[in-house]
Amino acid sequence: MRSIASRVLSRPVLLTRALSQLERGEYKHIGHEDVEFFQNILQRSGSVIHGDARELDVYNSDWLGKYTGSSPLVLKPQTSSEVSSILRYCNENKIALVPQGGNTGLVGGSVPVFDEVVMNLGMMNQIQDFDGLSGCLTCDAGCILDDLDTYLHQRDHCVPIDLGAKGSCHIGGNVATNAGGSRFMRYGSLHGSVQGLEVVLADGTVLDMLNTMKKDNTGYDLKQLFIGSEGTLGVITKIALSCPPQSTSTNVGFFSCPTFDSVTQLLQLSKKHLGEIVSAFEYLDQESVDMALDMLPDLMFRPSSGPDRMYYVVLETRGSNSNHDQEKLGYFLESAMESGHVVDGTLAQSAKESRDIWELRESVTEALRRRGATYKYDISVPIHMMDTVVSSTRNRMGRYAQEHDWKVVGYGHVADSNLHLNVSVPTYHPDVADVLEPWIYETVSSVNGSISAEHGIGVMKAGPMQQTKHPHVLDTMHLLKKTLDPNNIMNPYKLFI
Ligand code: FAD
Ligand code: MLT
Ligand code: ZN
Repeated sequence: MRSIASRVLSRPVLLTRALSQLERGEYKHIGHEDVEFFQNILQRSGSVIHGDARELDVYNSDWLGKYTGSSPLVLKPQTSSEVSSILRYCNENKIALVPQGGNTGLVGGSVPVFDEVVMNLGMMNQIQDFDGLSGCLTCDAGCILDDLDTYLHQRDHCVPIDLGAKGSCHIGGNVATNAGGSRFMRYGSLHGSVQGLEVVLADGTVLDMLNTMKKDNTGYDLKQLFIGSEGTLGVITKIALSCPPQSTSTNVGFFSCPTFDSVTQLLQLSKKHLGEIVSAFEYLDQESVDMALDMLPDLMFRPSSGPDRMYYVVLETRGSNSNHDQEKLGYFLESAMESGHVVDGTLAQSAKESRDIWELRESVTEALRRRGATYKYDISVPIHMMDTVVSSTRNRMGRYAQEHDWKVVGYGHVADSNLHLNVSVPTYHPDVADVLEPWIYETVSSVNGSISAEHGIGVMKAGPMQQTKHPHVLDTMHLLKKTLDPNNIMNPYKLFI
């Protein structure tokens, strides 16, 4: 019998439908009359993509190169009323559709499985309003996160989320996935920061919930349903977002800890000594850092490595008084070094050095992509277990890891109990997933964790979600889906199977 590794190396990348063994639903196949209808609604150049296989490929393939569909049609509306007309038509004709933002999703949610129409929101990218007094930003769903941050920076504010994909992901995609990221520790979930939404339902109804007030207790808070709904309930078209003021004093440090236990102790120390000014506390294991340095030779921040395996922490503080913050950091560092939980460290001396440290943290995802295929698990487990889960996975990969240089790396948002467990292999193959699943999901369930801390369910975890959520909860989710999208045209095959 051939080993899993040799089979993996000899297989080409498969379409999502082959990997997931899904069957196409009874949806209408797109005909000329449909394309003509859409071309009538969207007359701007480039807003209907049809018949150009190479251009369509970009919208059919996900960021990881793991999930690939075969949509013959991409639509790029610019207004909510265009979104509404498209959806009404799709609903009446039973045409399935995938809402797509920046297509940086990591669970196969943003691309078709079969020939679903892609509705890309990239042309809906206008900022409507910013209220400097309340900090409320109102904008289109297709605004790129980094563009919003730059816009807000010029107005002494910032977006309340930050992630490595900020240069491409849309705020609409962030809301649709309830994205987390490194500022979660400080500013919390988008369930708290999103003040209002405009959403277009499957039948074309426009739900105006674009509230810009911080407090609103008028009945059911329906917008919450769409935060994290991954395009299965409607298309998010506008967002009102509560944005915090820009901090005037920012510090970024990079610390080497001898054990994972030291990382957790350092987290405690940061809470004790830095309190309200800590804005991020991220960890990377030695394998993550080695992989990033290996795959990305242009990285500017390159920590020196000694003979011992280390755990690394990126710590950020954001405050309003640099003297006060420096003093606090001084006490923190003193006790961290004295206790032996930190054996080496750097405090950035300039904005550039801070960016370089962050670049190392955020580039592990790209390093993994460059190395080959990545089986990504984005889980919540109790903090003290995070590294144990990584080492158990290494043990499970056992001889395959050694023989074929498959690598297991662990990093993530420690303060939020969110571990990014990644298995890097040469190419995607179901046999690799069979070694890891359902074992990983069972491990997570056994400690009452979550199989998706931040990336969502998509097509990747639709099956596991069925196994890990209470049946009554799943029934209620189905009920909501059926009520809002009775023809199941919105992002089918995702979330539900
Ligand atoms: P897409 O990938 O296009 O879509 C994601 C899902 O949302 C799909 O199901 C899609 O149908 C739906 N969707 C998109 N737009 C809309 C809309 N307007 N209305 C309705 N549904 C919509 N995620 C984190 O949570 N934290 C991280 O730290 C993080 N870091 C990342 C780093 C890198 C390098 C990469 C590549 C990804 C990272 N991600 C992270 C995952 C991803 O960036 C987020 O999930 C992001 O929120 C997706 O936004 P997007 O615009 O690319 O959405
Ligand atoms: C991160 O925190 O870096 C992201 O969620 C992406 C990833 O898991 O690789
Ligand atoms: Zn993350």
